[in-house]
Amino acid sequence: MEKTIFITGGAGFIGSHVVRLFVTKYPNYRIVNLDALTYAGNLENLRDIENSNNYIFEKINILDAEGLAKLFQHYQPDGIIHLAAESHVDRSILSPLDFVYTNVIGTVNLLNAAKESWKDNFEGKRFYHVSTDEVYGALGETGFFTEETKYDPHSPYSASKASSDHFVRAYGDTYGLPVVISNCSNNYGPNHFPEKLIPLFINNIIEKKPLPVYGDGLYTRDWLFVKDHAIAIDLVYHKGANHSTYNIGGFNEWKNIDLVKLLCQQMDKKLGNEPGTSDKLITYIKDRPGHDRRYAIDASRINKELGWKPSVTFEEGLQQTIDWYFENQEWLRHVTSGEYQHYYANQYEN
Ligand code: NAD
Ligand code: DAU
Repeated sequence: MEKTIFITGGAGFIGSHVVRLFVTKYPNYRIVNLDALTYAGNLENLRDIENSNNYIFEKINILDAEGLAKLFQHYQPDGIIHLAAESHVDRSILSPLDFVYTNVIGTVNLLNAAKESWKDNFEGKRFYHVSTDEVYGALGETGFFTEETKYDPHSPYSASKASSDHFVRAYGDTYGLPVVISNCSNNYGPNHFPEKLIPLFINNIIEKKPLPVYGDGLYTRDWLFVKDHAIAIDLVYHKGANHSTYNIGGFNEWKNIDLVKLLCQQMDKKLGNEPGTSDKLITYIKDRPGHDRRYAIDASRINKELGWKPSVTFEEGLQQTIDWYFENQEWLRHVTSGEYQHYYANQYEN
């Protein structure tokens, strides 16, 4: 094998798309997926590639520093693409410490393991940290987040991701570790866990349950199809400059309520419903505390320097996503049994 790459969080939503892309596009790379399989990690996401001879799965919690050292010793990776994280804002409001442990301490454990394993000879090595636009805080009606925007996180989730970004840069500055970071906007697509807006609402429409819109529904997010994020990650990993940051976004802003109405329209078509049927499920509920009003990414740097831009329009991406959930109802049933029921009741029924 030409190279060994560790991908952390590879059983999750974005991670599984990154693993699939690397395993299929680079048959000469050995791809090792490091994942603890929390409620959000699911090996069913990788069934189609799990028997590939350049793919290995290692079940490990990134809080286990000794276990990480052993894996680094055993596989001698050339690079790390770090996606493992607690990723849901509402859960971070319920249990912030889980986010500090995995997102901050877990990331520092990985930085230490890489630094030790590479023994300060960083030639040809790369530590790529996948982060979020939420570290930049919230925008008003206008403006965009650039790579120079000052960090201003508001939720325990975004504070933990901001902290992990700072540690990654600190290891770059202090020890010369060859780090690169990207900060991306909201992803959507197949395999998205149904606690996040789009898959939650697809599932609730199928089950004819209320669609819980927070506050006035006028919060704005910039949506990117997950496979386009995976393509951007491939480019940043291979062509991004060390000690740099790349913002990644969809150039695709939607107010939540407008997005929900578009989703209802497409779902009604798919289900053969009268137009307007699913809209009746829309229910405004109490707002998320500390809810950021608007996110919008200026992705011109990755566009100019690495030639990346989204390839899928929102309508196409949403249709592909809806089709995937209809074809994968067994997946949906598996992930919404067990722990999901407790979370759902606590978040929406109390
Ligand atoms: P996800 O919640 O779907 O998946 C996270 C994965 O990490 C799961 O497979 C889980 O089992 C694993 N994991 C969690 N804690 C772990 C631990 N302690 N040790 C090992 N593995 C652990 O998340 P996602 O939405 O795919 O996000 C992936 C990354 O991308 C995260 O770092 C997130 O902050 C970032 N990000 C997400 C989005 C988005 O819209 N989803 C946007 C920008 C950035
Ligand atoms: O911006 C990138 C981030 O996008 C990622 O870093 C996070 O990991 C990812 O979860 C996502 O965070 P958001 O909080 O923006 O995504 P979520 O799908 O939870 O919510 C999107 C918007 O929809 C937000 O304004 C809150 C609103 N919402 C969400 C849920 C779950 C509702 O109105 N009702 C809901 O039930």
